[in-house]
Amino acid sequence: MQTAPDIFMFLGRFHPLFVHLPIGLLSFALLLELLILFKPREAFKKTIPFLWLLSALSAACSAGSGYLLSLGGGYEEETLNLHKIGGITLAVISTLCYLMYALPLSFMKRAVQPVRYIFIVGAGVLLVITGHGGGSLTHGSSYLTEFSPLSNSAAAVSGTNQQTNERITSLDSADIFEHAVMPILQSKCVSCHNKEKQKGELLLTSYEAIMAGGKSREGVIPGNISTSEIFRRITLPKDHKEFMPTDGKKPLTENQIAILEWWIETGAHKNMMISGLKPNKKMQDVFGDFFQIGRDAILSYAAKPANQEDITALIKEGFQVYAINQGNNLLEIKFNGPSNQKPNIELLSAVKDQLVWLQLTNCSIDDEDLKSIGKLSNLYKLNLNRTKITDKGINELASLSKLEYLNLYGTSITDSSVIALQHFENLKKLYVWETAIDTLKMDSVPKIKKDLDIVYKL
Ligand code: HEC
Repeated sequence: MQTAPDIFMFLGRFHPLFVHLPIGLLSFALLLELLILFKPREAFKKTIPFLWLLSALSAACSAGSGYLLSLGGGYEEETLNLHKIGGITLAVISTLCYLMYALPLSFMKRAVQPVRYIFIVGAGVLLVITGHGGGSLTHGSSYLTEFSPLSNSAAAVSGTNQQTNERITSLDSADIFEHAVMPILQSKCVSCHNKEKQKGELLLTSYEAIMAGGKSREGVIPGNISTSEIFRRITLPKDHKEFMPTDGKKPLTENQIAILEWWIETGAHKNMMISGLKPNKKMQDVFGDFFQIGRDAILSYAAKPANQEDITALIKEGFQVYAINQGNNLLEIKFNGPSNQKPNIELLSAVKDQLVWLQLTNCSIDDEDLKSIGKLSNLYKLNLNRTKITDKGINELASLSKLEYLNLYGTSITDSSVIALQHFENLKKLYVWETAIDTLKMDSVPKIKKDLDIVYKL
């Protein structure tokens, strides 16, 4: 893959640090050159040559480290070449500008003066172009404009949950590739696999490019997750050197992996509504979470803003805290494992007014903790999958009068909890698959609560 020796890469990685020196020094030199036209001060005259000298030295260091960095490969050639030429020219111009002051050229000063002005203007223009080229190489060419009010890609990249601009309200109107797969790759992969920075010669910006794959293999083989390189890379152990994303970037979430897996298994379609692919209950749930379907129901409700210190304390204890939408101050809080760990539930009471969605999954929450959770009276949605709770604690949740969604999959609750939960006033969706309930019996039990959808098998 990388043919450059490690020491080159080591030095090359200092490039992003170095480049700030010539940018600052050159700007300063250019500024003084401009000022001296109006105010020919002695101090300026003394400083300017020195600034050019420093600019020349730092530009040379930047060009050198940049060259070493480029040996690692993976950059778009055209942008890289322009950036390279720009950087070297800047170093040369700075040197010449210094020499024009330092060498005894005063006898021909008149002749030199216009050349100097050309150099100065040229240096200014080059500085902007080269700086922007460098930015494009590192961040992609849309980096500067991505969050501009005129751009439509901002939401696609920034959203933690809501990756698309269009609001998806049902799986009938969600395209598997455009609305699910692409936004996931956008948020986690495209920063390194785009036209400017094509790591592993892999481009992840279009359907065709994703399928085609990179240097070594096709990206996706429809219907076959075990031979799909993209899937293999995201499911390797996190410390594996081929794991994606690299460089300690945020890995894909469980839901995101499940969506990519399902997309490949169902044939890696380009234009297909999710509902048309007949997702099972589990996948419906995954997509429901991904698109945050149902969140409109609570948008009419608003709370006063939560105390920033309380939020900081929660984050410190390992909770993830999300704003559900900007206007109403409501919060979604998550804690996902490890399974032997118990989050500090008591802290949640401080944000009880704002907390409407709570996910405490794959951790050691038990019946005792349900007492505190039962007091979080604004909860609409509660996910306690794969925790240690049992039938004994379920009734502690009866006080959650707004609760509409409850996920207890992978816990040891039995039929008696399901019966108790049928009396919960507002409950609309209950997930109890992979629990100790008797699924055969469930099939024949008459439903007490008509509008409650109980999901107990896939
Ligand atoms: C921080 C930069 C970075 C990010 C983010 C990143 N990659 Fe990569 N990727 C690389 C580099 C560097 C290589 C080349 C080295 C290698 O093959 O491991 C690579 C190579 C690959 C390859 C192998 C291409 C081939 O055929 O050789 C695949 C597949 C891949 N990445 C998929 C992904 C996916 C999927 C994501 C998002 C989950 C992702 N990458 C995110 C840097 C990144």
